[in-house]
Amino acid sequence: MDRTEHGLPIVTKVLPINVERVGTFVFKEPSRSFLDDWDIHLDENSRDAANLRQAVRELQTSSLPVAFPTETVYGLGADATRGDAVAGIYQAKQRPADNPLIVHISSLNQLRRLLTPASGSPSKFKQDVGDEFIPPIYNPLISRFWPGPLTILLPLPKPSPLAPAVTGTLSSFGVRMPSSKLALALIHLADVPIAAPSANASTKPSPTAADHVLHDLSGRIHFIVDGGPCTVGVESTVVDGLADPPVILRPGGVSIEMLRHCPGWENVTVAYEDGIETSAPRAPGMKYKHYSPKARVILVSGSLSVDLVRKYIGTGRAIGLAKTTTWKDDDLTARGRAALKNLSSRGRLRSFTLQRSAASSSSEPSDTNGRPPLAQHALHDEVGEQSDSIQVSSIDLGLEAASVARNLFSALRELDLAEVDVIFVEAIDESEGHAVAAIMNRLRKAAELQIQV
Ligand code: TXA
Ligand code: MG
Repeated sequence: MDRTEHGLPIVTKVLPINVERVGTFVFKEPSRSFLDDWDIHLDENSRDAANLRQAVRELQTSSLPVAFPTETVYGLGADATRGDAVAGIYQAKQRPADNPLIVHISSLNQLRRLLTPASGSPSKFKQDVGDEFIPPIYNPLISRFWPGPLTILLPLPKPSPLAPAVTGTLSSFGVRMPSSKLALALIHLADVPIAAPSANASTKPSPTAADHVLHDLSGRIHFIVDGGPCTVGVESTVVDGLADPPVILRPGGVSIEMLRHCPGWENVTVAYEDGIETSAPRAPGMKYKHYSPKARVILVSGSLSVDLVRKYIGTGRAIGLAKTTTWKDDDLTARGRAALKNLSSRGRLRSFTLQRSAASSSSEPSDTNGRPPLAQHALHDEVGEQSDSIQVSSIDLGLEAASVARNLFSALRELDLAEVDVIFVEAIDESEGHAVAAIMNRLRKAAELQIQV
């Protein structure tokens, strides 16, 4: 339900920003780019800079959060030091209050200021990554993966400048420096640490484009910064280096293999469970229902077939396919027809022709948003009535893990908009490494059923 403000409905405005047009980024030490001190000189005449200023002002003054892109997914950001602003995040998302938020920073100095609120000036700190306030176990990770899709847990400073609602009862907080230049510019100009969960309504797939956020949060926030589609597409990896040995709490954009190459992280363990969650998960957010579209999601390891569709379609009339490496739409036609020779006529799908809708084909290039197109087909019973047909909407997620990650959440949302009853998703081989663990983790959470055929 939409919220109101002073008795009036909240109007949500999308602010398009091309970060290459906001002005000039200036680095103190160019080789260390965003890890060291840096600044941005906004162009007075730029529409993009004016939009950026508006978003910054909202972050600094409003108790409603601002949605903004990161390289992983869109975040719903608020000043992490202001209780009313942080409360606004939980309200807009309808998020359970015991699920802590990640704090986003734009430079190491900003993190140092956060960790040493009493000392004021950060000038006494070494300019190296390592210093006494950041546990040394994190040094190789920060040098290698920041800015980027990695969240580290740090002890909560005492006294803590963070609003208590950021961490709840925990004595640690999660922090990351995103690599999206637009996110960095926004945080830097707001000049406060930004608490931000993913900008979806709680339980829905994370948003990887501004229109996903608009769909979920329209009428709940004032501004959505639109910086185009996210490049990574799954959330950050969350690690706890305060534990011995260190643990991965959530798989994400930085893979287990990449972490294991870092000194001190060779024996990193995994503290998330795929499938059935433990009763006391260590990353509190991992226990909730997640990434779920309206349709029933079935994660399939193995081949796509008419039999498979028949078995799980139930009384549904429309299915969605999210294809990765081997599935083809034709698996439901040519092969399907052969398979049907042996089926009794009691089957719902006795014989098939595939009719492509005039406008779309799965071999078309990506649309202007960089997302793969949705192909819609109708599977018709050749002898039956139109009412016997089953609508098939299919999306190619791509062959590489990186492209599957980038397209996954958007595909689940698009198939939902096509109003399918069941979404069949083609699993990918988990021995492939890299972002695969993160992809399969999210799919298992979204899926009601996992099957091997
Ligand atoms: O890529 C990302 O991480 C995105 C973008 C917006 O940065 N953010 C994101 O936030 O995914 P969220 O709130 O959807 O997920 C945060 C995860 C949750 O699983 C939460 O439980 C865990 O991080 N987390 C945060 N602080 C924690 C803490 N102190 N201890 C353990 N887990 C923590
Ligand atoms: Mg989330």
